[in-house]
Amino acid sequence: MTSPDGAAPPFEPYRTKVVERIPNPSPADREVALERAHYNLFQVRSDEIRIDLLTDSGTGAMSDRQWAALMLGDESYAGSRNFAHFESVVRELTGFPHILPTHQGRAAENLLFSTLCRPGCVVPNNMHFDTTQAHVLHNGGRPVNVAIAEAYDPESEMPFKGNVDLPALKGVLDREGADHVPLVMVTITNNTGGGQPVSLANLQEVSQLARARGIPLYLDMCRWAENAYLVREREPGMETRTIREIGRAFFDLADGATMSAKKDGLVNIGGFVATRDPDVATRLNEAQILFEGFTTYGGLARRDLEAMAVGLQEATELDYLEHRIAQVRYLAARLAAHGVPLLRPIGGHAVYLDVRRFLPHLSLDDLPGQALVVEIYREGAIRSVEVGSLMFGTSEGEQRSLELVRLAVPRRVYSAAQLAYVADAVGRVYARRRAVGGMRYIHRPERLPHFTARFAPALAPPARVG
Ligand code: F0G
Repeated sequence: MTSPDGAAPPFEPYRTKVVERIPNPSPADREVALERAHYNLFQVRSDEIRIDLLTDSGTGAMSDRQWAALMLGDESYAGSRNFAHFESVVRELTGFPHILPTHQGRAAENLLFSTLCRPGCVVPNNMHFDTTQAHVLHNGGRPVNVAIAEAYDPESEMPFKGNVDLPALKGVLDREGADHVPLVMVTITNNTGGGQPVSLANLQEVSQLARARGIPLYLDMCRWAENAYLVREREPGMETRTIREIGRAFFDLADGATMSAKKDGLVNIGGFVATRDPDVATRLNEAQILFEGFTTYGGLARRDLEAMAVGLQEATELDYLEHRIAQVRYLAARLAAHGVPLLRPIGGHAVYLDVRRFLPHLSLDDLPGQALVVEIYREGAIRSVEVGSLMFGTSEGEQRSLELVRLAVPRRVYSAAQLAYVADAVGRVYARRRAVGGMRYIHRPERLPHFTARFAPALAPPARVG
């Protein structure tokens, strides 16, 4: 069913029951939208977007079973049966005994880092997502990325570019000691590095390094089912194991996890934090009640917990995952046919354009990722997002080596024809790339800058090369 080179349109393992009309803004409408939004696509209205690939988070289509589950909502403040169902599903999937629902992933991060992190602490992670990094910083900690060197080379075909650099992690742990490292975190898949998987073999080594020093290991498990799918495909000995078995092998190595169920939970809102440690669970519960809500709803309507219980299970089904990954590969193959430079190999939830090779005539000061996001919108009313020095700020020197624009594929939403439209529009931008000018800041916020920054076209035209 899946075409290995991604060239054939992937077969959808579902049929459509409800449709939503999509807007088709004219080129003139797009210019108006860009100016009003100060060239920040986060500020553009959804009715000004034709295809929205800003994120795969909370943008998926729920199944008939999930919509039916919403009707089973038991909206009791305490002790809702939906919590009991949700808890039993997450326990069965992960093996973690203590499960605390939250309204989304960063809320889980807030509970975890405000509980475990103290000023001066150091948190290693293969690569922090921006909200994860911001929560470590917010609690006075220092986020340190310890991904392998290949993760920073967009052209490396290494199959597990999400892996942790074990000597680098060991160095951090030896230097800082257990007193200063409250937890080690591993993000599966590595979103910031291109949706790249972490191998089970690598996580085993990470777990050993952490456990030998009495430091807990937590997973950022937003895209754990996609990680398991890629492990099943690529890691020797894994091809006969189910997604659930592979996932469980990962969770067995960890002491807990944060989850944004807006990704591999197939819901529009929801998340949780999980732990094995009863003392940590007690402290997380206090923080949960303070920031989110009572233990058995955690910032959600109880019906949302029911939809999440169903979605978490659907995300492990092989035909669903096969189609999902095939869609991402189909988009990538069609972009590659236009010669568009991509981060390789293609990851789980998105295609990442390699900005340095796409716009080599622009310097980092020209904000080339943002320039490309704007140009793709101009061409096809398509919304994408910069993942590079704008998203992460310029203080993290290592982050700047990856300058990417992400085309994230929402789950079960767009057809192959719509993805082909995206690829062809980006292909046209690539054909006229030398005429693409840079951008500059008008306003640059201190925290999580890409959401609210304001831009304008750069004053100087781009220098012509080649
Ligand atoms: N961790 C990772 C790896 C993420 O990708 C995200 C969100 C979060 C944590 C935070 O979860 O949004 O539910 O609060 N990523 C989205 C994205 C926003 O577009 O990649 P959240």
